[in-house]
Amino acid sequence: MLEEQKEFARRRKQFLRMVGEGNIAIIASASIMQRNSDVEFPFRQNSDFFYLSGFDEPESVIVFVPGREQGEYVLFCREFDETTALWVGASAGLEGAVKDYGVDDAFPIDDIDDILPGLLENKSRLYFPMGAQSEFDQQLMDWSQQVRGRSRAGVSAPAEFISSDHLLHEMRLIKSAFEIKQMKKAAKISVMAHKKAMQVTKPKMFEYQVDAEMKHHFMSNGAQSEAYPSIVGGGKNGCVLHYTDNNAVLNDGDLLLIDAGCEWQKYASDITRTFPVNGVFSDAQKALYQLVLDAQYAAIEQVQPGNHWNDPHEAAVKVLTKGLVKLGLLEGSVPTLIKNEAYKPYYMHRTGHWLGMDVHDVGDYKIDKQWRLLEPSMVLTVEPGLYIQPNAKEVDKKWRGIGIRIEDDVLVTKKGYEVLTSGAPKEINDIESLMEKARGA
Ligand code: GLY
Ligand code: MN
Ligand code: MN
Repeated sequence: MLEEQKEFARRRKQFLRMVGEGNIAIIASASIMQRNSDVEFPFRQNSDFFYLSGFDEPESVIVFVPGREQGEYVLFCREFDETTALWVGASAGLEGAVKDYGVDDAFPIDDIDDILPGLLENKSRLYFPMGAQSEFDQQLMDWSQQVRGRSRAGVSAPAEFISSDHLLHEMRLIKSAFEIKQMKKAAKISVMAHKKAMQVTKPKMFEYQVDAEMKHHFMSNGAQSEAYPSIVGGGKNGCVLHYTDNNAVLNDGDLLLIDAGCEWQKYASDITRTFPVNGVFSDAQKALYQLVLDAQYAAIEQVQPGNHWNDPHEAAVKVLTKGLVKLGLLEGSVPTLIKNEAYKPYYMHRTGHWLGMDVHDVGDYKIDKQWRLLEPSMVLTVEPGLYIQPNAKEVDKKWRGIGIRIEDDVLVTKKGYEVLTSGAPKEINDIESLMEKARGA
């Protein structure tokens, strides 16, 4: 069996055990989204669905029935069809699903209305991704209603409808060795793309040209897509947190903020680097940049098993606030400024998020209203920033329009952490010398 099929089988076994005999779990694939007329958006499988099945087709539904004699793992999918195979490529079909994907029992998706109610009969709990796919939620209600309508024949419908999120997302939060390998590969490709961006960037280029270099690197190294729309923002555009126009010219003397990462085999990477368009930081840029970098190092140091989720954020806020006072952007006592969130006009987002199959990955951040503790094999981003808006009249002119973020992907290990994206330069000297070398070449 292929390594990845073993991995999917292992996940299913664990999930089936958690669902438990007498219960059922049902998850639908992602749907094809129409772009216009006959054109579709590129298909991206639902991450929960893929996590359990490795099956990359739309119009599919997986059903887990622990203890079912004819097989616990049921898949509804498209039947193999010659014409479709000719026009858009072959689908696995029922036989392929059983042969290549470890499915116990495969049925045509067109028969789901006839078969699924039978699977729901006499089950106590129904687990499904409640609220994630509203049309499918409605179908599940309709099928359950059908079963309920036959109660006089002695069958019962599930009495409890439970979100599958908790079970599945707790699993997804703790990455297996296989997943960490995929994430390292995603990180490696993205690291190289960021280096490439530093090497090619010059004044008068357009943001989209740097963006294109990165996309080219992602795709020519086998990544299937970006993990999210890239942010390539020169100068004041770096102060727009979710800037994706990427269509402005890059000016000599400005910084360029790039937040870009590829998706490799359904795993995201998420890196931000900020560097000077002309290869040399000005004094003001240097001061703010070094402050963000110090905050990032302090935050990364807090990524330790047993620390809580908010420790890195608190460390970043402390360093940033202290530094802003030192540079004259804030005035007052540091503890009071932190308490009053005085840093928020310049640092308005959180220091990170879980990372995995989704860029903002699944998993709770709090348990019983308390920040959860970090555990080995969790992966998170650490991404402090400073954004001095162009119209920030309250600060010296030299700071205005500077936007900086530095973001790495960090794995929690048994002893501390491992930065998966450390290959992308972030020390001022390293960035400047990489860019100088590229200019000289
Ligand atoms: N690229 C999205 C984020 O950094 O959260
Ligand atoms: Mn990012
Ligand atoms: Mn991020």
